[in-house]
Amino acid sequence: MKFKKLSPNSGLKVSALCLGTWHLPRLPERDDAGAHLIDESEFKRVLKFAYDNGVIFLDTANRYHGGISPVPLTHVGNAERLLGKLIKELGIDREELVIATKVGNRMSLGPNGAGLSRKHVMWQIRESLKRLQMDYVDIYYMHIHDPDTPKREIMSTFTQLVNLGLIRYIGASNIPAPDLVEMIEVAERLNLEPITVLQYRYNLLERQIEKDIIPIAQRYGIGIAAYSPLAQGLLTGKYVDVEKRKWVIPALSRATYMKSFVKRYLTDKNLEFMLKYIEFAGEKGISPAQLALAWVINMERVWKVPIVPIISVSKLKHLEEAIEAIEITLKDDDLKYLDELVKKV
Ligand SMILES: NC(=O)c1ccc[n+]([C@@H]2O[C@H](COP(=O)([O-])OP(=O)(O)OC[C@H]3O[C@@H](n4cnc5c(N)ncnc54)[C@H](OP(=O)(O)O)[C@@H]3O)[C@@H](O)[C@H]2O)c1
Repeated sequence: MKFKKLSPNSGLKVSALCLGTWHLPRLPERDDAGAHLIDESEFKRVLKFAYDNGVIFLDTANRYHGGISPVPLTHVGNAERLLGKLIKELGIDREELVIATKVGNRMSLGPNGAGLSRKHVMWQIRESLKRLQMDYVDIYYMHIHDPDTPKREIMSTFTQLVNLGLIRYIGASNIPAPDLVEMIEVAERLNLEPITVLQYRYNLLERQIEKDIIPIAQRYGIGIAAYSPLAQGLLTGKYVDVEKRKWVIPALSRATYMKSFVKRYLTDKNLEFMLKYIEFAGEKGISPAQLALAWVINMERVWKVPIVPIISVSKLKHLEEAIEAIEITLKDDDLKYLDELVKKV
């Protein structure tokens, strides 16, 4: 495994790949709310394989369940709970891991049941730590933008969590660029702890952050954790029947239980792209999933900021494939070809 400094503004080192827990290995059975039961033994094998192969960077959130999305309030916290339980069962030394979790999305019905107010954040860090069975998390992300809470309150609350020893570093996710800059500058001005990592969606097809968030990362010296590097599974090619040139939905895949996936990704335009993309991966002798991950990793060279992809896996073999991708170097010509392919459709 390759390890790297996550951010120019911190000494924290992470694996070049981060394992996420938004969607977990699942069983076909569902509960009354429609949530898939989690395949705990496969998840345990995944975690063991990850740890044995140096994937020490693990990502979760207070709201994740693992087998349903969106997550009803009755099901929140499940991913953190399972992660904490299985780390204990596997006997992994917590100090060897870099654990990230998130706060901000709705956890209860009341007026303070979501957001980044001091009240909500101070409540949720303790709940997350209980579920994870840990004394602290390494990275605590603001999961969303909260326009109702002043930036000073947000940054001073997160700084207080660092001082209390409940978190080590501060992260920000999905926050619009102007608000993010304000937060970074409030922290600088008031001598509060800085934001160490930015978590945003980034893959070959979804590159909005190139316009605003990456320039911020460059200017302020902050690393990027790139989520959905496989476009939620689209870029693995498994939704394409190449012979018949049409979409297919594999049994138990995310598309079977997450309506927004189908609407977002299974479009005519993407089908045209995917047929050419799968062909290109074949020419390079790697799987489409590996090409997608290698693209994100190799973009670090282009942008000159640390970029770590965060993947989800529903099978152990997905992780095996992903770990191999870390070593793949794409030439500038390959990146150019992929850019042209995206522009053509
Ligand atoms: N901050 C945020 O708001 C935010 C948002 C989204 C995600 N995240 C984080 O980022 C992580 C990754 O996001 P994501 O799940 O959208 O990412 P992704 O890595 O783009 O997609 C993962 C999905 O692709 C499929 N897959 C992976 N490897 C495969 C392979 N080799 N062959 C076939 N299929 C494969 C699996 O789908 P199936 O499950 O269908 O088998 C898997 O669940 C999450 O777990 C979470 O920790 C954060």
